[in-house]
Amino acid sequence: MVEVSPEVLIVGGGVAGLRAALEAARFSRVVLINKERGNKSNSAYAQGGIAVALGSREDRQAHMADTLLAGRGLCRRKTVRILVDEGPRRVRELIRWGAEFDRSGRGFARAHEGAHSRRRILRARGDGIGAELTSTLLRAVQAHPRITVVHGRFTADLLVERGRCVGVWVLGRGGRRRALPAAAVVLATGGIGQVYLRTTNPPVATGDGIAMAYRAGALLEDLEFVQFHPTALAVAGAPTFLLSEAMRGEGAVLRTVKGEAFMARYDRRRELAPRDVVARAIWEEMMSSGADHVLLDVTARPRLWLRERFPLIARTCARYGIDIATTPIPVAPAAHFMIGGIKTDEFGATSLPGLYAVGETACTGVHGANRLASNSLLEGVVFGARTGRAAARYARSQGFIKPSSQRDDRATSRQDQGQFDDILANVRRLMWEGVGIIRSATSLGRALDGLRRYDWLCEAVYGDREGMEVQNIQLVATLIARAALRRRGSLGCHFRSDFPVKGRGWSRHVGVARSD
Ligand code: SIN
Repeated sequence: MVEVSPEVLIVGGGVAGLRAALEAARFSRVVLINKERGNKSNSAYAQGGIAVALGSREDRQAHMADTLLAGRGLCRRKTVRILVDEGPRRVRELIRWGAEFDRSGRGFARAHEGAHSRRRILRARGDGIGAELTSTLLRAVQAHPRITVVHGRFTADLLVERGRCVGVWVLGRGGRRRALPAAAVVLATGGIGQVYLRTTNPPVATGDGIAMAYRAGALLEDLEFVQFHPTALAVAGAPTFLLSEAMRGEGAVLRTVKGEAFMARYDRRRELAPRDVVARAIWEEMMSSGADHVLLDVTARPRLWLRERFPLIARTCARYGIDIATTPIPVAPAAHFMIGGIKTDEFGATSLPGLYAVGETACTGVHGANRLASNSLLEGVVFGARTGRAAARYARSQGFIKPSSQRDDRATSRQDQGQFDDILANVRRLMWEGVGIIRSATSLGRALDGLRRYDWLCEAVYGDREGMEVQNIQLVATLIARAALRRRGSLGCHFRSDFPVKGRGWSRHVGVARSD
């Protein structure tokens, strides 16, 4: 698979992993391993844009203030400062590497989304920022002489010896796990959306990095903060396709199924209130009407304008019989972004020596209790660069440890696909009903009871991707539910109906590490 052991091994091929690879390769030999063959990361599906303050110092201060306000007091100020200050440099670098942002007149077009006090979101291809940035970075990675990209290989676990991460176990052909040693490992495995019944995330988002880090004993944090996107397509037989918040930034109105605009009843910022506020407002409207959706109405905009501004959304809705120029779109919230994850410092270092994490799988504290829209691609490039550099330095200073075995000879389990499908359907339903937009001790207890029925999955050793993903989903689901039970208060996107105020000790982070 790989001829020489890499100094830095990166798992995951989204924006954060690709950016980390490019930086690490300035100093080291890098292998980037991706379980998918194509460009199918969460980043690749991003629509809205990349938030960045390209102007004056005051512009950056405003970006920082908006990020802190959306994060409800739980952000780590230090990492937010890094995000807004280093962001402009990283975005200019993307432009040098060929990223084409949409333009308006002589400058860049700037979009608006919830909780931003000004228009600062750069966009590409209308609603195709993710595809533009991942393809730009992938081109640079593929052209780099010190980076080897391995597609279609599943990383099952971290290789830990003498308290240090010294590589990974990958699934080989025939179901055997093979050791891939590395001097430093970076997890950039993305999100967890597949833990929920309704998600905007692609099928790859199965929480693999969080699960691997937990099994290896690394510290995780803030897992109760799962951000639900307010508006995903809710049409029978259609995918839970994201309808970008940028639509509301361009004037789209949320209406009940009877056509009444309702956001003014919830927040003075109406459709552009922070994401958690809008998601809960929609949820309440759905509960009180009994409907399984509300409507997103963008019909005030002309058809040609819509086709140019939101080409992907217009095309996708048309495929399911909705002409967005004439018909309000049925939408409902869906799990969108994991705010918590593997706890890192501002250089991506985790609590396990030799292990780094970046992007959605990491928790730098930059998003606090509620992520400001379009800050995650910026996080990916800013902390990707920092993490790649730090991992390369670590690799250079610490060198390799030869793992004590090259093959894992334990017998592997196999389940038939039908059984996995049943487990997945149950886990996703339990999470949606018990650990969703509104939680309580009762709903969380019910979810945990249900999840416990599948604890036996964690004992098994799987030699196939499907088995590993189901195991990871059940583990991550359990960790999220436990964290949500531990936070006895409501903050940002974690809302407990039995503790509707933030409560005492609200500013503490909920951390967890495997103790056995
Ligand atoms: C969106 O386009 O609404 C998603 C942007 C984000 O999640 O930051």
